[in-house]
Amino acid sequence: GFSWKLKDHPKLAKGKTVAVVVLDGWGEANPNQYNCIHVADTPTMDSLKKGAPERWRLVKAHGTAVGLPSDDDMGNSEVGHNALGAGRIYAQGAKLVDIALETGKIYEGEGFKYIKESFVDGMLHLIGLLSDGGVHSRFDQLQLLLKGASEHGAKRIRVHILTDGRDVSDGSSVGFVESLENDLAKLCEKGIDAKIASGGGRMYVTMDRYENDWDVVKRGWDAQVLGEAPHKFKSALEAVKKLRESPGANDQFLPPFVIVDDNGKAVGPIVDGDAVVTFNFRADRMVMLAKALDYEKFDKFDRVRFPKIRYTGMLQYDGELKLPSHYLVSPPEIERTSGEYLVHNGIRTFACRQVVRRYCLFLLLLFETVKFGHVTFFWNGNRSGCFNPDMEEYVEIPSDIGISFNAKPKMKALEIAEKARGAILSRKFDQVRVNLPNGDMVGHTGDVQATIVACKAADEAVKVSLLRMILDAIEQVGGIYVVTADHGNAEVMVKRNKKGEPLLDKDGNVQILTSHTLQPVPIAIGGPGLAPGVRFCQDLPGAGLANVAATVMNLHGFEAPSDYEPTLIEVYDE
Ligand code: 3PG
Ligand code: CO
Repeated sequence: GFSWKLKDHPKLAKGKTVAVVVLDGWGEANPNQYNCIHVADTPTMDSLKKGAPERWRLVKAHGTAVGLPSDDDMGNSEVGHNALGAGRIYAQGAKLVDIALETGKIYEGEGFKYIKESFVDGMLHLIGLLSDGGVHSRFDQLQLLLKGASEHGAKRIRVHILTDGRDVSDGSSVGFVESLENDLAKLCEKGIDAKIASGGGRMYVTMDRYENDWDVVKRGWDAQVLGEAPHKFKSALEAVKKLRESPGANDQFLPPFVIVDDNGKAVGPIVDGDAVVTFNFRADRMVMLAKALDYEKFDKFDRVRFPKIRYTGMLQYDGELKLPSHYLVSPPEIERTSGEYLVHNGIRTFACRQVVRRYCLFLLLLFETVKFGHVTFFWNGNRSGCFNPDMEEYVEIPSDIGISFNAKPKMKALEIAEKARGAILSRKFDQVRVNLPNGDMVGHTGDVQATIVACKAADEAVKVSLLRMILDAIEQVGGIYVVTADHGNAEVMVKRNKKGEPLLDKDGNVQILTSHTLQPVPIAIGGPGLAPGVRFCQDLPGAGLANVAATVMNLHGFEAPSDYEPTLIEVYDE
């Protein structure tokens, strides 16, 4: 039968403090002026690379290596942290939705049958990110869903769009709205009443995450459900074009708007009897809206009206919370993650000052609010909460709210680093897992200068959290570090053609890349607790993030389960 018990590693000892540091959005790319990691002064990360070539390498962090449909898909934090924690590669939401749409199975599922009951008298509302970024949603999936829903009986359809500019270029919203309006016009020719009903920029409207700022969700609710917004337009194309004209405006932060008819009445508020689908497959930025749509009891903001609707998510966003209770496609079943194994194998004997004490394995997870779920929820296979609260501690450093992070590119990196250092030195924790968000959060703003400052701050934070551990090791903790990243971002800040030359816009300026990248990410291991013979294997050139889990288990003195992707390390007898 199945057992949680892990085999002891034949060569590596237990009881070492292992610091696992994830630099969010930190890839490896050719050095040039738009590689902010290269331009920034990053002595700590440079020294990890140069100091021990056999303990530094690159791993894949995009495409099929992390369960995405193709190798043209950039990495992202959901799939990256999933792979880091699960140690195996799962077909991810993007892929599962593709399959469900291709085979038509989506229309045979419980979720679709459920919303279909509303098609007779009610309207079908589709809410989500209008983008082909493939991180949270994909435009072609929305197109197929519109077509399929209309073929399966939806007569009145309203789309509530969220403009992107984060996973795709800023300004691309205009093209997406044009295409969508075309598609909707074609549906209208077939006698279906199909329109865009509301919109807003993803970072200002609806797509907050980890309960950072409920006002974001409220702004969306007012537009989508109540049909109220500060800006009213006759068409969505006009809306995005006009709203983009105000100084400093961009796709990510467009204010909320509603589309109104000739009498000034909103064309698509959500009312009793309607069906609603949130068409993002990725969970983090849909969970808050899903709660507002699904929960009878709700006190995060005043919903004013709570319509009796049939609501389904594209996926179920949280398996623990069963949220939402209805969904079109089943999410990947990520189980037996490394965190759960480690918690089950946590009892260890720890000798300290001649007194032999029984110790439990404790995991300490450190992060800013904006990345809360990355090293917890995503790492644990999209599972919220602890496996065993006696053994895990989550420490959240509140993120600044209501600002764009290029204004404060250092974010809370130093606070995180200092907490991490304190935690390591306390010796209370077997594993201290840290997410440093700077390269990613500032990289997404497209502000090259601020991203350089952000990369420097993240590098400094790695130093602060690990330096003491290294210097004071023999006396103190004798620990091990693993420094890696979840996907690229800050290392490529410009779009390039096939030849690698920066692309220019019509005014001759370089086209800024706000999104993640296809680049591999570094992983470095070291520290005084690392057995001297440990080095990276030479025979895993194609390894990716999923190989990290087995590696970390080894560093805790365990063999990984046999179905995990192979460990990156081998131990040489010296
Ligand atoms: C976001 O949600 O901020 C971006 O779309 C993806 O960034 P992340 O994968 O780094 O969270
Ligand atoms: Co990101």
